[in-house]
Amino acid sequence: RGLRILVTGGAGYIGSHVVKLLDALGCRVTVLDDLSTGFRELVHWGTFVQGATGDVPLLEDLFAAGRFDAILHFAAFSQVGESVAYPMRYYQNNVGGTMVLLDTALRHGVRRFIFSSSAAVYGEPLQLPIDESHRCLPTSPYGATKLTVERLLQDCAQAHDLGFGCLRYFNAAGADPSGVIGEMHDPETHIIPRLLGVAAGLEGAFSVFGQEHDTPDGTCIRDYVHVNDLAWAHVLVLQALMDGSRGLIYNVGNSRGYSVMEVVAAARAVTGCPIPVRFEKARPGDPAVLVADCTKIKAELGWKPRYEALEMMVATAWNRHKR
Ligand code: UFG
Repeated sequence: RGLRILVTGGAGYIGSHVVKLLDALGCRVTVLDDLSTGFRELVHWGTFVQGATGDVPLLEDLFAAGRFDAILHFAAFSQVGESVAYPMRYYQNNVGGTMVLLDTALRHGVRRFIFSSSAAVYGEPLQLPIDESHRCLPTSPYGATKLTVERLLQDCAQAHDLGFGCLRYFNAAGADPSGVIGEMHDPETHIIPRLLGVAAGLEGAFSVFGQEHDTPDGTCIRDYVHVNDLAWAHVLVLQALMDGSRGLIYNVGNSRGYSVMEVVAAARAVTGCPIPVRFEKARPGDPAVLVADCTKIKAELGWKPRYEALEMMVATAWNRHKR
């Protein structure tokens, strides 16, 4: 309550849900977003500043104008396939932008930093479920940028008095039950919004990427975690940093996997629409199975997902979609 928090990428999908929660908890939130992939209409709370994390004069002004107790850094490009085609763009924005942000923050005395990392840091899993001690060997530039920033934070924490938290998200899904905010990407590549687009008649059929993966039904298995459960994990990490914790790294997932066809079935059940599917080639670089071991965040911070059921994730996304 009363904490001053800078949220970069607060006009994005996950960032906007965290902003809503922080606002409800009485924090004073400033959202920094350049709207390159975010949406102004997702910013309903706090003070909005339009700009990039790599904009040195803007950041100088922002930090000179008011002290922040912590930074929650969501702003990043997040499309795995795009990162393969345009690696420089990803390194420039995700790593370069973070370097400017962190450097400015440290010079202005900010000592708490929470970073949106990703299951993509692990690469192809060696064993399942994946815990935080699993080796990190990203298979995409996107994953490499996330791992590079984790390393940057660890190095800066050693040199300066910095407390940081890295949350390795598995597949964020669903929307706030209010329907005021939700998942929006342009172009949309994520499974649940694409399924709902077909249900709403925006597209004729849903493309299933790959039918011959090494899974029971041949389609990829992912660990879907509700965006509000993810948001709550940030609040717990913030609390731990305020209480003096230093370097925290946690997986955030549901600890169970669903295949693409199970998500299709859930979307059919929730929307009551048949949702025709067509089977296509596997997406290059898609691991067959990603499932998180979340024992650490549960044991250390008492985090517990509230929206565990896949139907709940799809239903809250559908509620938003209909608006
Ligand atoms: N899928 C389809 N058809 C679609 C879209 C997706 O079959 O039209 C499949 C994918 O092949 C994958 C699953 O649905 O098996 C989930 O795909 P998403 O694109 O929704 O999510 P990803 O698992 O590819 O990626 C997400 C985040 C990344 C992050 C990654 C970490 O978007 O930023 O999780 O595991 F890096």
